[in-house]
Amino acid sequence: MIYISMEKELKIVRYPQSNNRSLKAWNAADEYILKHIDEHSLNIANAVIYNDRFGFLSLFLHEFSPKIIIDYKSQEKSIYSNFSLNKLDISNSKFHTPLDKLGLPVELGFIKIPKSMDLFRLYLQQLSVAMDKNSKGLCGFMTKYFTPQMLDIANEYFEEVEQSLAWKKSRLLILSKPKHGKKSTIINEIKLNDNTRIKQYYGVFSGKNIDYATQFLIKHINIRETDNRVLDLASGNGVLAFYINGTKSETEIHLVDDSFLAVESSKLNLNGENIHFHNTDNLKEFEENYFDFIISNPPFHFEYETNIEIAKSLFIDAKRCLKTEGHFQLVANKHLNYKTHLDKIFRSVEITAQNEKYIIYECFK
Ligand SMILES: C[S@@+](CC[C@H](N)C(=O)[O-])C[C@H]1O[C@@H](n2cnc3c(N)ncnc32)[C@H](O)[C@@H]1O
Repeated sequence: MIYISMEKELKIVRYPQSNNRSLKAWNAADEYILKHIDEHSLNIANAVIYNDRFGFLSLFLHEFSPKIIIDYKSQEKSIYSNFSLNKLDISNSKFHTPLDKLGLPVELGFIKIPKSMDLFRLYLQQLSVAMDKNSKGLCGFMTKYFTPQMLDIANEYFEEVEQSLAWKKSRLLILSKPKHGKKSTIINEIKLNDNTRIKQYYGVFSGKNIDYATQFLIKHINIRETDNRVLDLASGNGVLAFYINGTKSETEIHLVDDSFLAVESSKLNLNGENIHFHNTDNLKEFEENYFDFIISNPPFHFEYETNIEIAKSLFIDAKRCLKTEGHFQLVANKHLNYKTHLDKIFRSVEITAQNEKYIIYECFK
């Protein structure tokens, strides 16, 4: 898809690509940020960009050498490939994680407001401490996703929060006068059982409790005596790996997640020589026939999108990495109807358990 603004014409595509043509690489909220910059002739220096999933803002603003906050490995790949597609030099842009200390002072912060309000808070915490009294924040969102919490959180970190008029069904929050000294925690502790709490950074799945599908999977987990090498695929805060480590502590356990904050969260919950963390969006780094057991509560939501293509590609990866005699257990919402897809990939697929909402499959290579 091509977009023209600020006298530039750029082509921006999604990574991973999708067959669903309604899924776009940016929306009007991103465009509104550029329009605002243009109309107000904002002098862009020392800028930071947040939640730029496929690189729309990073590409249009690349000449100003912005800092780009990377949440996902797939986001980083997307931004790299779009720079290369448009023959732009990426070396001016500086990549940071949402936990880095940003150098002072940040003059402008551009945020595409994420669905998770906790993640928005984590962004504002990082951004506001790096700002001075003249800095500004521009936050874009689609009007249909507005929640009053956006204003509450913005007001926690900025003295002035102004809401723009609507344009193409999107709006901006314009933040000025950062409040310094506001310190809030960015780690949630959630209850696994009476004795155990799992830690996770704000914005990591699934918010303030252990996901019900995950709880259901834990009840029915089928770890075997011979499962010596295990993968927690799409590991989030690492709760499944944590459970397995508690049951069979000598097992070699690998955790894979696309999200930087998820992997950092799992590091808060697990450690030891048998535990290996991987911040990646696929299983290419693993050999064929590597794992005895793969366990997963796979992703199907990305921000406001429902997309099972990523889960399907992870299933194909899982089959390749599974030993011939290995097994792959996953939980899903019933309505996703994964059986049809799993049947096409695996030799056999059994239903291990189900309730009114969730279903657990066990797949054999
Ligand atoms: C439904 S959550 C499950 C998290 C955790 N296992 C649990 O049960 O609480 C799905 C996870 O998939 C991750 N994810 C999304 N796309 C991914 C990909 N391509 N590769 C690996 N992980 C991915 C998300 O970051 C999220 O943490």
